[in-house]
Amino acid sequence: MTMEYDAQTNTGANEESLRMVSAAPIGNEPVSDEELRPHALDGFIGQPLLKAQLQLFLDAARKREVPPDHILLAGPPGLGKTTLAMIVANELGVPIRVTSGPAIQHAGDLASILSSLDTGEVLFIDEIHRLPRAAEELLYIAMEDFRVDVMVGKGPGATSIPLTLPRFTAIGATTREGMLPSPLRARFGFTAHLDFYPHGELEKLIERSSAVLGVRLGEGAAYEMAVRSRGTPRIANRLLRRVRDWAIVHDLDEVGPDDVREALELYQIDAEGLDRLDIAVLDAIVRQFNGGPVGLNTLSAMVGEESETVETVCEPYLVREGFLLRTPKGRIATGKAWAHLGLEPQSDVSKLA
Ligand SMILES: Nc1ncnc2c1ncn2[C@@H]1O[C@H](COP(=O)(O)OP(=O)(O)OP(=O)(O)O)[C@@H](O)[C@H]1O
Ligand SMILES: [Mg+2]
Repeated sequence: MTMEYDAQTNTGANEESLRMVSAAPIGNEPVSDEELRPHALDGFIGQPLLKAQLQLFLDAARKREVPPDHILLAGPPGLGKTTLAMIVANELGVPIRVTSGPAIQHAGDLASILSSLDTGEVLFIDEIHRLPRAAEELLYIAMEDFRVDVMVGKGPGATSIPLTLPRFTAIGATTREGMLPSPLRARFGFTAHLDFYPHGELEKLIERSSAVLGVRLGEGAAYEMAVRSRGTPRIANRLLRRVRDWAIVHDLDEVGPDDVREALELYQIDAEGLDRLDIAVLDAIVRQFNGGPVGLNTLSAMVGEESETVETVCEPYLVREGFLLRTPKGRIATGKAWAHLGLEPQSDVSKLA
């Protein structure tokens, strides 16, 4: 078993987390991302190209003794965007301020955050695609010229006072890169695209997390969790916690692959890692629309979810794994989806696309 974790994340976490048997239903974990977050780039598992790029980017900034250029982190939920932002600040040894698109209602909110930054600080803006338009405009001036125009007064008598900002590093995170206006996107010196993790990387991640949580895994147990994690570290950690619960309740010293299968079956995680919502989506397309095409809004209404959740959480993985096609006419279930539901396709799926 390989163990790649840094001492920082593991300080005293073992007893602490073992006492904390979570009763939260799967898919709905409370704020527990923190305990398993690596603090240094070395502890960040997988994404080797991205890590090499980021390492070079940070080393260069350190050598030049200037704050690095702005960074955009793009990719589906749970792949490590927030984790990377924290790591960047940590590696640079600077404080990080955290805000998010929806938290900023007016450009003024952003102006006051910007004007309180110190030299070199990292400003992390989560869900940056949800910033209001006026704040977006203010942000790209701040990012490029390190300046904000503060409006004083109202109406025709209002004047704008330019305020010089210290050099800071903005880190934006988004699950919807396409929704960022191009002037804003262009202000980032480095864009990191996070992609789903292959099984081998998730296995390592689960081994690291199990060491932090004090769960002993037998041969093949991490693999059984990795293949059910939808390529996503957050899900891998969540499955591990459910397996830990199982081990505690069954008084197991070591968890084997059969225990993992049994525990996760109880939580309706199937062998391909598809969960209740994924299956509901495929089921709706196949049974209600005979395989599609069906529009996103109709589909989301059928499964009782927000269309944004279906589009950003569910679909990227289904598309990548070949269960679903996104076409201009709507969503189509592939032959693999029909087979996964144990059904024969009713029409020629390839013609629909
Ligand atoms: N490469 C990695 N190595 C180790 N742990 C990771 C890695 N990527 C993510 N994690 C773990 O997965 C959890 C989720 O990651 P994170 O919160 O950074 O995702 P995110 O991309 O910000 O998601 P969201 O879009 O929902 O905000 C974290 O608790 C972290 O411990
Ligand atoms: Mg995040």
